[in-house]
Amino acid sequence: MTRLVWIAIGALVAACSGGGGGEKRQGQADVPETLAEWGLFADGAQQLPADDVHPYEVIAPLYSDYTAKYRFIRLPEGGRIDYRADGPWQFPEGTVVVKTFSMPHDQRDPAAGERLLETRLLVRERNHWRPHTYVWNEAQTEAKRAIAGVRLPIEWKHFDGGTRSLTYRVPNTNQCHGCHGEHEASELLGVRTAQLDRDFDFGSGPVNQIDHFAALGLFAQAPPAQRERLVDPFGDAPLEQRARAYLEANCAHCHHENGAAWETGLWLSTATTNPVDLGICRRPFSAGEATGGRPFDIVPGHPEQSVMVFRMASADPEIKMPELPTQIPHDEAIELITDWIAGMSPAGCP
Ligand code: HEC
Ligand code: HEC
Repeated sequence: MTRLVWIAIGALVAACSGGGGGEKRQGQADVPETLAEWGLFADGAQQLPADDVHPYEVIAPLYSDYTAKYRFIRLPEGGRIDYRADGPWQFPEGTVVVKTFSMPHDQRDPAAGERLLETRLLVRERNHWRPHTYVWNEAQTEAKRAIAGVRLPIEWKHFDGGTRSLTYRVPNTNQCHGCHGEHEASELLGVRTAQLDRDFDFGSGPVNQIDHFAALGLFAQAPPAQRERLVDPFGDAPLEQRARAYLEANCAHCHHENGAAWETGLWLSTATTNPVDLGICRRPFSAGEATGGRPFDIVPGHPEQSVMVFRMASADPEIKMPELPTQIPHDEAIELITDWIAGMSPAGCP
């Protein structure tokens, strides 16, 4: 056969085997097909980590359609974390960071159990993080690797007691970079001092996570006692700080100068100090329907005239913020941002 025919057959085989072709091209032929093969869990169905796997929580989680999350870190043997006061901590090659998504059967009652949906991994290679995702079967006995996005129809009881349903979207692994950064420079988003400086119960009562990791000798250098942290967006800190923490955790990974929303010039990180950059009296970059006919991203004192609230409350995939993969507007966050904007002194925009 001629070379050309071989190429054509190769393309056909790649197309028929779904993600298989892409897998070879990315040099991932040796990636385990099941989550169990990673040896991360003593009991995967219960999300009970293996001995060398450390659970953690973030202060301001990413909202994902009311799912619950479990997070873990596994360092390679003898590996240490390079602590950073600001920005993501640095990890040695071979580190695995894990995030499992589940939907509680009843949001009001943890004892009612949950349905595990997917377990995402970011695996540190020489100079970037490689994403993988494993989708749990309905029997909850096994999670298998998925490359192309998978859809899972799910149902649960919401906080108001009503039944809610959703076709949950497992992102395909190319979509991870939309939030985690470009392929060769992809980065951790939550594993940073500002997000991890909180208490967690590792089995003998709540302790500070960073102090606990330090006591275990996980850091290459001792973290300072003075640390800057986010506030819990739904805790009891002042309103402004809570609103800013929510925007930092849920929007800033795209809304910063190197993020997917760079062209909007709308910067939603806690580091933003210029009110216009934050959206205050800022004419929207996007025109037409996406503004809901509202004049500015934020109109102080007037949430009902602010594009930000309009886009957070929309369920239209072309308009909603954040962009896909979430589908259900986050009612509690819309209330938070509404209250924040309503409380700004209505100076009037030029
Ligand atoms: C909509 C934006 C978004 C997309 C898409 C996304 N992530 Fe994330 N991810 C985040 C944010 C924000 C955090 C940190 C906050 C948290 O843990 O809740 C995070 C945290 C993580 C973590 C824990 C380590 C860390 O970075 O803090 C892992 C592992 C992870 N994501 C894997 C993935 C994989 C794999 C994909 C693709 C299948 C993916 N993510 C897609 C936004 C996203
Ligand atoms: C996955 C990336 C991503 C995330 C996460 C995200 N955005 Fe956006 N956002 C964009 C992009 C891209 C645009 C520009 C295109 C458009 O208008 O749809 C945009 C536009 C906007 C605009 C219009 C800005 C203008 O001047 O026209 C607002 C307001 C906005 N986002 C608010 C938010 C808020 C609030 C959040 C968090 C709750 C958020 N976004 C999360 C990607 C994102």
